[in-house]
Parts: sequence; C-alpha cells; structure tokens
Amino acid sequence: MYEEKIIDGKALAVKIEEQVKSDVAAFKARTGVTPMLATILVGEHPPSKLYVKLKHWACRRVGIKGEDHKFPEETSLETILSLLGELAARKDIHGILVQLPLPKHLDERTVMSAIDPAKDVDGFHPLNMGRMLIGKERFVPCTPRGVILALEDMGVEVKGKNVVIVGHSNVVGKPMAAMLINRNATVEVCHVFTEDLRQHTSQADILIVATGVRGLIKADMVRQGAIVFDVGITWLNDTVYGDVDFDSVAPVASRLSPVPGGVGPITIAVLMQHTLLAAGMQVTNDTG
Ligand code: GUN
Repeated sequence: MYEEKIIDGKALAVKIEEQVKSDVAAFKARTGVTPMLATILVGEHPPSKLYVKLKHWACRRVGIKGEDHKFPEETSLETILSLLGELAARKDIHGILVQLPLPKHLDERTVMSAIDPAKDVDGFHPLNMGRMLIGKERFVPCTPRGVILALEDMGVEVKGKNVVIVGHSNVVGKPMAAMLINRNATVEVCHVFTEDLRQHTSQADILIVATGVRGLIKADMVRQGAIVFDVGITWLNDTVYGDVDFDSVAPVASRLSPVPGGVGPITIAVLMQHTLLAAGMQVTNDTG
C-alpha cells in the first residue's frame, strides 16, 4: 500500500552510483589515479560495523579503493590522531571518514578537527561546517546532502517552503537547516526541548525527522500533503525502525521516505561522490 508515495532511496542511490562509477572510470583514464577512501572504526558498535561494511561495498561498486582501519574500544586519542596525521600526509588517500559515534573517552570534536579538511568527505570538520554555514558548501554531511538530492530528484523547489526539522544534531539537523537556508527555504528546527512539537510539525510543507525516537511522528503531527523524510534509525533485535510511524503517516503525507530503503542508501552514494570530488581537488591542487 502507498507504494506511489514512497521515496525510493535505493533507486536514487543506484542512479547516483552509476554516474560516480562512470566519472571514476573517466578520472582514472585521465589522471592515472584511483580515488581511495580510508575509514576508521573504533569499537564494536554493531550498526557502525555494518555501515562501514556498506561503505566499502559501495566503494567496490563504483571503482574507488577502500582502506579499512579498525581499532578496539579502548584505543587512545593519541593513536587516532596519529593515524589521522599519517592519512593526511599520504598522497594515495583522498578521503577520510571516522565512523560515529566514537567511544565516550574520544572527544568527537577533537577527532573531527584533526581530519584533513581537504579529505573530509563526511563534512564534519569545523572548516567545512563553517563554509556550509556561509553558503560556500564543499564537503557537507552526507545524510542532509542526500535529502537535498532526493528533493531535487523529485522536482521539489524548497525556496519559500516551510521546512520543519526535528532533531538538532551536528550530523543531520543542524547541517540540514544550513543547507535549506542556503536554498532559501523557511526553516524551523525542533528538538527534545521543544514545547508542543505537534504545533510546529503540523505546519510543515516538508518535514524532516532525525531524532532516533522510534515512531515519534504520527498522523496528527503531519499536515495533509506534506513531504516527510524519516532520517531516524533505531536498532532493536537486529531490526531497524524509523522515527515516523509509517502506517499512521502514509495516508496523510504526499510523499514519505521509508526506513530502511529511504535516505540511508543515498547517504552512501553521496559519500562516493565526495570521495571522487576530493580526489579531483587533490590531483589538481584545487583548495576549494
Ligand atoms: N554515524 C551516523 N551517521 C554518520 C555519518 O554520516 N558519517 C559518519 N562518519 N558516522 C555516522
């Protein structure tokens, strides 16, 4: 049911990856360089292990090389910073990704700041975040970029639209807001301290939810005809759930991204785009 309303993230991801694959082949032929992504995973968080594996599979699909750095939970900050220094210096590595969340003893901001901004394909370095905030987007966080691409693919013009974002994380909510403001949407950001969430969400032309609270959004919180992006992920007994109660909201929304199979696959395709972009910039000494 409601198949015509579903935002098919897998299909869009396939389309993006096909383009990246052909661009990577052309890039290799032109420069003799194969783009390479290094990933860093610390600890045993099962979803993170899966995400990193999916990222390496995507690399293989599009012809990008992958280097997988795995560390035990108790790894010191110095070890990670030292690896980030080595990866920054290596000419054969073009993209660096540190999978989040990190174990508690590793300060995320310190680690993100130690990634070479020219190789920061995840867009979490303060320089890339700052560029995005002033409208000079280069490497931006892959998940909100995926939502923008899905909107473009659907032919939705965000300029002047009321967009409500639920969740104010550095990974999704805040960069999503900046990217939509850059495109002249009217943006409201709600979060865990927002009073009367429903009053806000029910005004949205486009509702983007990224809280990690399973089933938070129900039909009475959604305006008739709204476009709804479910960017939330909750793992429970090896099953993944979104933030939107799909069965409740599907009759009300005009379009709805499911979990799984919505924004997730697009995020990984964007990472491939960014790795190729980084390789191109490094080969031509383009600092952006
Ligand atoms: N954890 C959840 N989302 C992301 C992401 O986009 N990048 C990284 N590195 N870690 C994540």
